[in-house]
Amino acid sequence: MGIVYDSNSQTFHLQGKSSSYIMQLINSKYIAHVHWGRRVRGSNPGGLLVRRRRCSFSPSTDPDDLTLSLDTLPQEFPGYGGSDFRVPAYQVQMEDGTTVSELIYESHRIYAGKARLEGLPSTYTEDESEAESIDIILADPIIGLKVILTYTVFRDVDAITRSVRFINESNQSIKLLRALSFGIDISHSDFDMLHLSGTWARERHIERRPLATGGSVIESRRGASSHSLNPFMALLSKQADEDHGEVYGFSLVYSGNFVAQAEVDPYGTTRVVMGINSFDFSWLLEPGEAFQTPEAVLVYSAEGLGEMSRTYHKLYRTRLCRGQFRDRHRPILINNWEATYFNFNANKIEELARVGKELGLELLVLDDGWFGKRDNDKSSLGDWFVDRNKLPQGMPELVSRVQQQGLEFGLWFEPEMVSPDSELYLAHPDWCLHVPGRRRTEARQQLILDFSRQDVRDYIVKVITDILASSPITYVKWDMNRNMTEIGSAQLQPERQRETAHRYMLGLYEVLERITSAFPSVLFESCSGGGGRFDPGMLYYMPQTWTSDNTDAVERLKIQYGTSIVYPISSMGAHVSAVPNHQVHRTTPLDMRGHVAMSGNFGYELDLTTFTEADKEAVKGQIELYKQLRPLIQFGEFYRLINPFEQASAAWMFVSEDKKEALVAFFQVLSEPNAPLRKMRLKGLAPENNYLLNEAGDPNESVEIFGGDELMHVGLNLPIWKGDYRSRLYRLKMEE
Ligand code: DGJ
Repeated sequence: MGIVYDSNSQTFHLQGKSSSYIMQLINSKYIAHVHWGRRVRGSNPGGLLVRRRRCSFSPSTDPDDLTLSLDTLPQEFPGYGGSDFRVPAYQVQMEDGTTVSELIYESHRIYAGKARLEGLPSTYTEDESEAESIDIILADPIIGLKVILTYTVFRDVDAITRSVRFINESNQSIKLLRALSFGIDISHSDFDMLHLSGTWARERHIERRPLATGGSVIESRRGASSHSLNPFMALLSKQADEDHGEVYGFSLVYSGNFVAQAEVDPYGTTRVVMGINSFDFSWLLEPGEAFQTPEAVLVYSAEGLGEMSRTYHKLYRTRLCRGQFRDRHRPILINNWEATYFNFNANKIEELARVGKELGLELLVLDDGWFGKRDNDKSSLGDWFVDRNKLPQGMPELVSRVQQQGLEFGLWFEPEMVSPDSELYLAHPDWCLHVPGRRRTEARQQLILDFSRQDVRDYIVKVITDILASSPITYVKWDMNRNMTEIGSAQLQPERQRETAHRYMLGLYEVLERITSAFPSVLFESCSGGGGRFDPGMLYYMPQTWTSDNTDAVERLKIQYGTSIVYPISSMGAHVSAVPNHQVHRTTPLDMRGHVAMSGNFGYELDLTTFTEADKEAVKGQIELYKQLRPLIQFGEFYRLINPFEQASAAWMFVSEDKKEALVAFFQVLSEPNAPLRKMRLKGLAPENNYLLNEAGDPNESVEIFGGDELMHVGLNLPIWKGDYRSRLYRLKMEE
């Protein structure tokens, strides 16, 4: 790992574990992109880039060198107005209204480690030896703009991070109209594009389509990263699949409006840009002020999507997530939402805790409905005081009753929201996002608090802090149930109104930093109507996310499989819920619901107190099993085996880092008449070792021994079952 600058060829070589990222300074002025892909030694990095004179429609910036056109030069941070007609990574507007800018290389500095980004979530190092970084300093001297491109390459993970800082060094204001986090020009376009899309209850479904000439865009204009499109895009060589072929992944550490665009030009090169969506965005930089973009994480894999995912998993689990729970096993919980919805009282919650303890659960989470007069979702958000009708003795008393039953206590909040029917709204009608004179569009009968305002943020930090300090609460579910409309802030000047959505995100990050650092031993789980804000920005503050409000075992196969493209298993909340399922009315066996939920951070979300003795025994068995498997599932390496988007079955496996243990989960969604004999090739095992294989939870414990090579190259015989919704977990232990 390291960054090498060769002054002869004026090339920068970022060397990852097995990848190289090479840039070149052209005519001591422009930073060109040369190579990102398999690692090369760097014998002649200066000889790799070819330039060719094109027609007058791709003009040159240098009359003496007609091969030098910004329209055809592969670039690292392209602008607009000075002869590059492709999609730009940034655009500025000066006081005179002009929008032309061109960045010229000034200097660079290489340093050990990685700097944190001011006010924004980002990956980090714990020790300087884990990474090397470079700042490339560019300037547009005509308008007094300085731009710093920052790159980091990691020692243990094949990932490169990029971000940009804009500094106004002029004596007039500069308006950023577009300020993305990176640009990269790849020399060919023979790619498919893959991204994760969906909606509420159907998050992160995988879509793959060929790139074509022109732009392919994914974006959010919802004021959140959103259920619809995740801030992630991958380009795959045509032959690439789960285990083979070149894959380029792009992931943005940001939770608000984003854009990712791949543009294929007439010469068959692909420009990728990504960052804060410039739609409805601008940012005024007064003289001396700076603007920091979010960080993008770029991952190259020569071994298909699976390897790309494992790289993201490792980086995000170990160097994006923070806090005491980063490396700690996550508690198995019972959440009362689908058990009671708003209809509960202290006795009911205590009863749930009592039965939960009997069955081996560790944490009870009290969801929505404990505050104000919230008997439904029409009121009380913002009134964060206990509803004495439901909890007559208050929160500390309930927490202590649950604790006496032997469970820890967790609590739900939706801190970013206010109900028009609330005391808070009555007192502060201007505290929500709104535009004077316009309708305040409600969604779920709620409005959004204006987190761009310091007074609003201070108020929310205080009320949440007071509740968390009042009782030994060890878990918080941080929900957010709508997207932004009428985006405007009562406190911002007219020329800054388009900053509101990003200022909101900065404000949210500030609030999360203050609250999570004040309560380091509380486990925070983020949620947004399920997975509406399942993004790397949130994971920086809260190491797990409620994956989806859809708890149906069959739907969850796709949702969890799609989520695993980028996000580690330890970040996914997954619960067993009642049947018929509340979202899709499907009835699946408890076994399958258990096996699907055990493939994440395990929990239950149903009324255990109404269970039969037989079901209680089964739940007890699931919990006992998960306790044994938890380290492997939450912190093992994850391999996808059968894709539920392609077949009526699914499978995946977890392998411990030392390869001594593994767990395979196989799900048959629909049974097939007179089905063929099928084998499933396992992955990630040690081929030279033997493994003891048995069905997890099998009371007869019948064990077979197979070679790792047999399991990987011949395959595991799959059961032939009659009946839908069947599943099995296989445990593998390396023979000593
Ligand atoms: C949406 C969440 O995703 C659910 O889990 C639940 O917490 C409800 N909100 C409560 O209103």
